[in-house]
Amino acid sequence: MFEFADRVSRIQGSLTLAMTSRAAELRAAGQDVINMSVGEPDFPTPAHIIAAGKRAMDEGYTRYTPAAGLPQVREAVVTKLARDNAITVGPSEVIVSNGAKHSLFNACMALFQQGDEVIIFRPYWVSFPEFVLLANARPVVVGSDPENQFEPLFDELRDKIGPRTKGIIMNSPSNPTGGVWSRGAVEQIISIAREHNLWLLSDECYEQLTYDAPFESTAAIGPDYEKILTFQSCSKTYAMTGWRIGYMAGPEPLVKAMTKIQGQSTSSPNAIAQMAAVAALTGDQTVVAEMRAAFDRRRQLIVSGLAAIPGLACREPGGAFYVFLKVTELLGRRAGEKILRTPEDVTGYLLDEVKIATVNGEGFGDDSHIRLSYALSDREIATAIERIGAAVKSLD
Ligand SMILES: Cc1ncc(COP(=O)(O)O)c(C=O)c1O
Repeated sequence: MFEFADRVSRIQGSLTLAMTSRAAELRAAGQDVINMSVGEPDFPTPAHIIAAGKRAMDEGYTRYTPAAGLPQVREAVVTKLARDNAITVGPSEVIVSNGAKHSLFNACMALFQQGDEVIIFRPYWVSFPEFVLLANARPVVVGSDPENQFEPLFDELRDKIGPRTKGIIMNSPSNPTGGVWSRGAVEQIISIAREHNLWLLSDECYEQLTYDAPFESTAAIGPDYEKILTFQSCSKTYAMTGWRIGYMAGPEPLVKAMTKIQGQSTSSPNAIAQMAAVAALTGDQTVVAEMRAAFDRRRQLIVSGLAAIPGLACREPGGAFYVFLKVTELLGRRAGEKILRTPEDVTGYLLDEVKIATVNGEGFGDDSHIRLSYALSDREIATAIERIGAAVKSLD
């Protein structure tokens, strides 16, 4: 038998990636699966970004770069944050990584250790507790209000902050819920973080995908609190998930600490992708608005379609491209011989019966919802709603 370090058993594999590969396997076996488990835009990377990547190779951007990213990409982030987010930083306050996931991981490694506690909000993105555990710290889970864009339960948050609490990780717009927190909620979080001298990690990967109100960055709401860290990504904004470019803006000493960790683990982010990111961040932004408009239209389609199915309670998410669907009314109902007892039974039933791949809430710390991604064509969304409607109707 092989033996591995404890940290391997301490963490879980990514449930969302597992569902996506299960859907891909079924498709490869010839099944007509609609994959609503995906966590990425269905659009191709815009042409001018691809052209910049090709040009980068021709121009010789094929070598190692500085660990924190090429000067021009750090500058591009500075320009972007000022333009879109009213955040004023210098290039030395920016690190570029292999996706925002990598920046988040590096930040947790640089900030947290054994004995520390880090607050995360349920339902959480699958990787937050695992980042904290990999840093040997303890994730402390605080609930949220499904009726109010999954904003934090502030009384519970205050109760759970103690002498060991070192940080809070927030994510609005949220994966998995699509919830967008109000300015008031973000102000409260900032003031709690300030009161207890906590790091506030703001995962803003979906910042360009809000539909009911313009997005406001946490660091722009609390510009004078220096422990706010902004994590953003090219992945969802520019349909660049496979290029692996994300970044963090925060205090220079933290950027230096993270650069040390990044330099000793993955060296630099990919040079070609960095040059493509410069084109993405500083080039024509109309592509972003077009993708946002398409996602908004799909949001309306899926929310109205699901709301019309008896037994499903669908609230309107303010952002990202997910619907977090409450399925408790389906639990206890019978599908042939089998009784649906958990959201996992519901996702299994939808996949087996009507070939719709979704993700159950369990990996997000939730036991009453399933997550559906609407990063799909209008036609696929319409077909998915028909199939889900038929599947729910045929339950006894
Ligand atoms: C909330 C959240 N944060 C971070 C990421 C990671 O993004 P990236 O592709 O930039 O690593 C994702 C991707 O699914 C996400 O949903």
